[in-house]
Amino acid sequence: MKGVILAGGEGARLFPSTKVTNKHLLPVFNRPMIHYPIDTLKRSGIREILIVTGADHAGDFMALLGSGSDFGVSFTYRIQDGSGGIAQALSLAEDFAGKEPIAVILSDNIFEDDFLEEVHYFKEGAKIFVKKVEDASRFGVVEMDEDGTVKSLEEKPSIPKSDFAQTGFYLYDSSVFDFIRMLEPSKRGELEITDVNDIYLQKGQLKASEVPGMWVDAGTHESLLEASILAQEAFDPDKIRARRPHLADIRFSQHVPKVTVGILTHDSEKYIEPCLTSLLGQDYENIEIVVLDNNSADHTIDLIEEQFKDVQIIESLENLGFARSHNEILRNTESDFYACVNADMIFEPNFISELLKSIEQKPIYGSSGGKIKRWDFESFSKGLKGTREMGKTNFLDSVGLRILKSHRFEDIGQGEVDCGQFDSPREVFGISGAAVMYRRKALEDTAFVNEEGEKEYFDESMFMYKEDVDLAYRLQWAGWKCHYIPQAVSYHDRTATSLGRKPLDILRNRSKKPKAINRLSYLNHQILLEKNFSEDFSTKVRGATFWYNFKVFLYLLVFETELLSEWWRFFRMRSQISERKRAMPRRVSKAEIEKFMES
Ligand code: DAU
Repeated sequence: MKGVILAGGEGARLFPSTKVTNKHLLPVFNRPMIHYPIDTLKRSGIREILIVTGADHAGDFMALLGSGSDFGVSFTYRIQDGSGGIAQALSLAEDFAGKEPIAVILSDNIFEDDFLEEVHYFKEGAKIFVKKVEDASRFGVVEMDEDGTVKSLEEKPSIPKSDFAQTGFYLYDSSVFDFIRMLEPSKRGELEITDVNDIYLQKGQLKASEVPGMWVDAGTHESLLEASILAQEAFDPDKIRARRPHLADIRFSQHVPKVTVGILTHDSEKYIEPCLTSLLGQDYENIEIVVLDNNSADHTIDLIEEQFKDVQIIESLENLGFARSHNEILRNTESDFYACVNADMIFEPNFISELLKSIEQKPIYGSSGGKIKRWDFESFSKGLKGTREMGKTNFLDSVGLRILKSHRFEDIGQGEVDCGQFDSPREVFGISGAAVMYRRKALEDTAFVNEEGEKEYFDESMFMYKEDVDLAYRLQWAGWKCHYIPQAVSYHDRTATSLGRKPLDILRNRSKKPKAINRLSYLNHQILLEKNFSEDFSTKVRGATFWYNFKVFLYLLVFETELLSEWWRFFRMRSQISERKRAMPRRVSKAEIEKFMES
């Protein structure tokens, strides 16, 4: 969705401060007022922004804000002659909006919250956002019944019917411009935005919801002062540092680490919207999002191109598999950290910043991961869309990878109810490739240079499955530790996975999986064992590994004989695997590795 910032008007209530400048260029705490609505739109996933202002100071706005590239957005400017009211200013956005819905923000409105979900799921009618205030007669007043249905709207009434003020953030469908044409100027000679909203209300197309966080309209001397104080509370480096130390250090330090978020798609149309929306709404700014599409036959690419202009797309005409696809993204980007995430997931807004906080705690941390919970995608897509909950469940999917003495690898916590049992940060063996952050330095350190001279971060001989486990293992051998932080929360649709871990559950789960997956899993397990297993491991580990492998072999002999042909494939790959094994840095003792192995 595109956004409009209305920054015209005379700012008469702030005279004489506005005698020679525009209200929205005045400082609120440590930056010009207009920076705040830009920030709000950005945090709501909006990147194309129209700024409407008066002719007198339009040049100052352009000098201050430029094209938008400093903000990671694109600005268009339009001049409002005179100050005929908010609705008149908005009418100038008609061409810019086209036939699409539009988000509108008044430039003197400072919000702590973002409107990410509301913007994303808004389709038609109008939506206003209200806040309980003590001095309602200063604002548009919204009367609502108990379930939040709007009953009436009144602009600055002397006797307000409720304590709910209409804030200066609005969502409209494209009929807003027709409705503006129907308006008559109010008593104060302006086309009122409240009258526009009233038309939607009369047509039964107006919705309202309350903003939970701080909100100020900085249009008077008192409220401007209040805005500065609140902005200091909410956005001041020291205060943020006190609340969220790492985020402040990142935001205000000289070097702001860059994070590449890599996502692979393959017919991912149904997932990609919520996934990218949650990534664009991250509270960490220095992020580039790159999607590598593996020859989707559905509308995945069109959807991204239409709705997510900031997302870079690499199109592949064949399915390259997990390892090679992520390697392609890594080879084509430069950043300090690489977040490897699945498309069938959504992420809390602090997901990236918390992972950074975790991985930057020690230079030795080569990877970090958070709490992955189950995403009930089915209920989400059946109608929970647009609600805050979005199908988020309290079941755990993974809080790290565990290695057993037998060399089985498991997702820690999988299927358990989250009741705080994994709420302490700690070191783990590895993190699932579904949502993990790697330090690029660690990836470079452990990369294998193949015959074409290309660096392979993930092992490309493992087309798909278990390459994340292999990388976790190699990072451990090279001395890079892996850190888990519970505050980085994401949700994963893993409807295909069974909840149990008993032998029968595992068998049932195997039979549900396509044969190709079982094949690749089996082959890749052998490859990763060949590369990472050490003959120096203790007798217990060697015994348990042999016994487990032997049991699997017997099982296959009886139930899945066709999988045994993978051994043939494995033998043909042996020299390749040995070469990779020789190139692996091994800097820690086997005891360092064994300390992670559970029985
Ligand atoms: O802040 C929320 C309130 O904003 C709402 O509760 C009211 O319903 C709404 O009318 C508005 O009331 P204000 O009295 O605060 O509006 P003000 O005249 O201060 O205009 C708000 C912003 O709109 C201003 O910062 C710039 C923009 N504007 C205003 C006028 C009159 C324009 O771009 N052009 C204009 O002609």
